[in-house]
Amino acid sequence: MCGIIGYLGPGDGISLSLRGLERLEYRGYDSAGLAAWQKGKIVCQKTKGQVKILRQKILSLPESKSHLVIAHNRWATHGEPSKINAHPQSDCSRKIFLVHNGVIENYQSLKKWLKERGHSFFSQTDTEVIAHLIEENYQGNLLEAVQKTLPLLSGAYGLAVISESEPERLVVAKKGSPLVIGVCQKGEYIVASDPVAIIEHTRKIIYLDDEEIGVLSPQGVRITNSSNSLVKKEAQSVEWDLAKIEKEGFPHFMLKEIFKQPETIKNALRGRVNKKQGKVKLGGLKDWLSFIANCPRAVFLACGTSWHAGLIGKYYFENLVGLPANAEYASEFRYSQQPIDPQVAYFVISQSGETADTLASLRKIKKHGGHVFGLINVVGSTIAREADAGVYIHAGPEIGVASTKAFTSQVTLLSILALSLVQEKKLWPLSEMKKSLIALEQIPQQVEEVLKNAKRIKSLAKKYYQFQNALYLGREYNFPVALEGALKLKEISYIHAEGYPAAEIKHGPIALIDQNMPTFVVATNPDDLVYQKVITNIEEIKARGGNILAVANSGDKVIENLANQVILVPQTLDFLSPIINIIPWQLWSYYVAVQRGCDVDKPRNLAKSVTVE
Ligand code: AGP
Ligand code: GLU
Repeated sequence: MCGIIGYLGPGDGISLSLRGLERLEYRGYDSAGLAAWQKGKIVCQKTKGQVKILRQKILSLPESKSHLVIAHNRWATHGEPSKINAHPQSDCSRKIFLVHNGVIENYQSLKKWLKERGHSFFSQTDTEVIAHLIEENYQGNLLEAVQKTLPLLSGAYGLAVISESEPERLVVAKKGSPLVIGVCQKGEYIVASDPVAIIEHTRKIIYLDDEEIGVLSPQGVRITNSSNSLVKKEAQSVEWDLAKIEKEGFPHFMLKEIFKQPETIKNALRGRVNKKQGKVKLGGLKDWLSFIANCPRAVFLACGTSWHAGLIGKYYFENLVGLPANAEYASEFRYSQQPIDPQVAYFVISQSGETADTLASLRKIKKHGGHVFGLINVVGSTIAREADAGVYIHAGPEIGVASTKAFTSQVTLLSILALSLVQEKKLWPLSEMKKSLIALEQIPQQVEEVLKNAKRIKSLAKKYYQFQNALYLGREYNFPVALEGALKLKEISYIHAEGYPAAEIKHGPIALIDQNMPTFVVATNPDDLVYQKVITNIEEIKARGGNILAVANSGDKVIENLANQVILVPQTLDFLSPIINIIPWQLWSYYVAVQRGCDVDKPRNLAKSVTVE
């Protein structure tokens, strides 16, 4: 969850690492630290809080520059956020320093054993055992000591390690947590947990695989696997545009990402939809399309927002393709007794491509002979690399912790996937397919129209921001929109919100309704089967004194007369409506959070990628 950065080379590793930490701050930010080789020894500075505090502390180091640096943003898993628990962690002799992303599950037994052997511990972290184990195994060669240590660890790690006795070496290792090496020039390297921290310096990235160890030195990069065989790895070129990871004048990344959706949805559609011919194509899945079309069942696996997209995928498969499907939380699936069926099409959906539970589900399926397909945003991420096949959503880097543009791109891609299966199974006449593709291509423009309502949504937020609880309702395709709307509000404004299928309210939640419990409803597509039912639910809430804020289609007079406030959105085909209908709730959560003074891009207790259990 945290951010790792490290540098070896002729330049100034300190300023580069601080800049990198700032770029990585969205991944975790309860404390930060840096260790650097200066004047024959390793100096270390750490602090609770954000990188800007670390910047101040660094001024007291003997020198302002260093050729060998490791640094870290922590998102605590073991031990409170504090200076002592911040990374780098080190051994008893304070000669070996390391930064770690992940969790060492057997740290307690290792700590006991190390204490018996006379090691003294300073922090409450799981990480510190790694430093002492390396000390225990160190006989003048850092690589060998790390190699001896790693098999003793169970859990997940991305590691960068340096030793005072080896000023020309940076050792990195990975298992379960991401770690990449940026190649600037021979003898100059940057390591990081995310290419975002590297790409302003180089686009050439080497992706480490699990159980690989890399040694960086002025002579080059040497990568070995767990059996100590040399692994030949080519650096890949990362195409991301740096401007895309800056705020571009928006006050927050989240707002920028909400406003980029017309563009990101277009990117998800590009090259995949031909409305003139009435055809769709998904290159990454073409060899597997017939397998998926003929499978008895599909399962979507994901967490959080990506799971909400998966739930929409379930409706798509069942309603459009006639293929039974389930959406399951990856965290539950990974430990479930559910037998893996090699006939079933399993889909993993993930923005980051690094979510621990989603990755574990993928590995479980593959281990038992099943087939897994990925819908991923981050190119080259672990899930993308390990899936049997897959497609990228092409939403670009998502920095805001609250996912927005990734969601609409995931749903767009799921609609294309469902339409590919309709095509493969020849289920619809060409005219029907063309109608859907025309509607799909109109979505970016329609999203643009919703975004023009931002001012009105902002003024509504100013009026309503003090409520403490909220209910979100929607049906069928828009039930996941209700869940996602509630999650967005919870994440960034800390308001308790729940999403329900609208008809469920009579089975419990309606008991909560009074004038202090606003209900947010999606009621679009008046010709839709479930629209009338949602109207009845709105009536029921009104009859109990409830306040209704509704998302409805332009021209819908029924809702305008019923609801206290209406946000109008353009109409599209019912199955595509979630892509449009979520936009008002994203903006709404954003403006409510800002109004309440919350730190939108850095919500409390959350990290962007959940790479630990
Ligand atoms: C969304 O706003 C969240 N912060 C979170 O639920 C996220 O969607 C989830 O952790 C899954 O992440 P992934 O898509 O990177 O796998
Ligand atoms: N488990 C480690 C700790 O709590 C690392 C957490 C992280 O990935 O930031 O210090």
